[in-house]
This record gives sequence, C-alpha cells and structure tokens, in this order.
Amino acid sequence: MARKSPIETAVFPVAGRGTRFLPATKASPKEMLPVVDKPLIQYAVEEALAAGARRLVFITGASKRAIEDHFDSDRELENMLQAQGKSELLKQLRGVLPSYATCIYIRQPAPLGLGHAVLCAAPAVGDQPFFVHLADDLIAADEPVLAQMAQVYATRRASVIGCETVPRRDTDKYGIVATHGKGDVLRIESIVEKPKPALAPSNLAVVGRYLLSPTIFNHLSRIGRGAGGEIQLTDGIARLLVEEAVYAYRFRGERYDCGNKLGYLEATVAFALAHPELGSAFRAHLQQIVKPKRAKRTSR
Ligand code: UTP
Repeated sequence: MARKSPIETAVFPVAGRGTRFLPATKASPKEMLPVVDKPLIQYAVEEALAAGARRLVFITGASKRAIEDHFDSDRELENMLQAQGKSELLKQLRGVLPSYATCIYIRQPAPLGLGHAVLCAAPAVGDQPFFVHLADDLIAADEPVLAQMAQVYATRRASVIGCETVPRRDTDKYGIVATHGKGDVLRIESIVEKPKPALAPSNLAVVGRYLLSPTIFNHLSRIGRGAGGEIQLTDGIARLLVEEAVYAYRFRGERYDCGNKLGYLEATVAFALAHPELGSAFRAHLQQIVKPKRAKRTSR
C-alpha cells in the first residue's frame, strides 16, 4: 500500500535531447538508459512512489515514445512469459507500475529549457505542491530522497530543493544557492544558474530533486530566456523566494550524474556491486581486471 502523502504529484521532465550521450540518445531517450537492469526513469518513478506520489506527469519531447511503452502493460509479452513459465519475470514486469498510480504525458513543444518543461506540467499539477524529479540524477539512499524532502515539507510547509556541496571549480555546471544558518535544512537567500567559480555565492549546488509550491508557475510563465538561451527553473525559483520561503536540503545519499558518461559508468558499477544477484560475481570480476600489472622486467 502506498504511503499517504500530501504530495500526490511528481513531474518528470524528460524532453531534453541528451546530446552528451549521442548517438545512443538519437532515437531512444536518455532516461531509458539502463543502470544494470532498470532504466533511469524506472528508478525515478520508484523513488516518487516511495515518497507517496500517485499522479506521475511526464513532460516528453521528440523520441520519447519508449517511456510511454515502458509504463504501459504489454499483454503480448505477458502472455508469452506466462506460456514459458517465466513467472518471476512476469511478476517483475507487472510490478513496474502499481495499479493506484496514474501516468499523464504532456508534450513540450520544443526543448526550451527545464523551467519551460516544468511550466508545461501546470494543468496536471493544479494548485498543490508537487515533486520535480530529474531522472539523470540517480541517488542511492537508504531512504528515498523525495521521501526525505516530504518530511522537511511536513514541518516547514514551503518549497524544498535537494542540494549538495560540489567542488568550487564545478559551480558553472549547477544552480548555486546562498543560504542562511547551519544544518541540513537552510533557508535560501539567493540562487543563480551556473555561476563561474569566482562569482559563485557558495559551492552548495542544486541537484535534480525539487518539492515546489504551485506559485512557481506564476513566475515561470513570466520569466524570459536565461542562461544558455533557455527558460531556467533556477530563474523561476529566484523569483519565488522573494515571495515565499524556499529551503535547501542537504539530502542523505550518494548521487550519480548519469547525464554524463563518466557519472553513468560510476552509477553502473555502484549499482552492479550492490545488486543482490550480481554483486559478488561482479566484484570478483572487477578485482580480476583491475589487478595492478606486474612491473616489466627490464633487460640489462
Ligand atoms: P539537461 O541539462 O541534462 O539537458 O536537462 P539534456 O538535453 O537532457 O542533456 P544534454 O545536456 O543535451 O546532454 C536536465 C533535465 O531537464 C530535462 C531533461 O530531459 C533532463 O531531465 N529538460 C531539459 C526538459 O525536459 N526540457 C528541456 O527543454 C530541457
């Protein structure tokens, strides 16, 4: 049974073109890249369901049909598995989406930026707070990060943004926040998209987890293009925090940036090592292949 939560809707922006993974992402979405045996978007949906969401809103774009197919039931495949007696696989397939969850697909007409993608979700979200989850930030955590954020919301009743400290040289890859006080939950004073290290107000970076007040839509509908010529969610949040409290939350968990190749490989290794069936064989294999090479004998 799903956990009762005041946050019923999760938005998954999946309309980016994933250029860093071309040609793998030419005809297939980045969010369908598998980490061991599940696509990134399934990890994302599982995290949102574990936090109590039941309405799943996917903001899709070109070449995203595979995501709809993944969450649809496939009678032909199910019948085949049944006939072959593959009951365990059949159970896994049927468990991809619980019956209480509803999927809504909204097309972003053009990839105008993350802020624009979130704005496209407004008709499905309505006037309640909602999660935004970026599937390419995969986070291994004992307690799913969106569930941790829902707990922060329960006491603060305000928007919460998943954050982590990054090396200062990397500030130009993230939204960066300036905050008040100390601890894991910090009131945000200002936020800026991809500042150069010398200009960054801190090295506390926004990662792909948000719990947002619906007031954000008013701001997103008014802001123009920002950094990179895109409508930036960061700019919408910058306006929101003038009006309402917005908190940075340092989540508990290990994040892998699966939007770039190295982060994706690191995630694959970490999740394979933790996999209940594959972990020990994979560890033995890794130990075998990364053995330090014997120093070559030099002839005198
Ligand atoms: P990224 O910045 O990772 O862009 O988007 P991208 O297009 O997916 O990948 P690269 O940089 O070209 O390799 C962050 C998230 O925002 C979504 C993406 O799908 C991703 O989940 N997004 C971005 C949209 O849904 N629409 C957009 O217009 C832009």
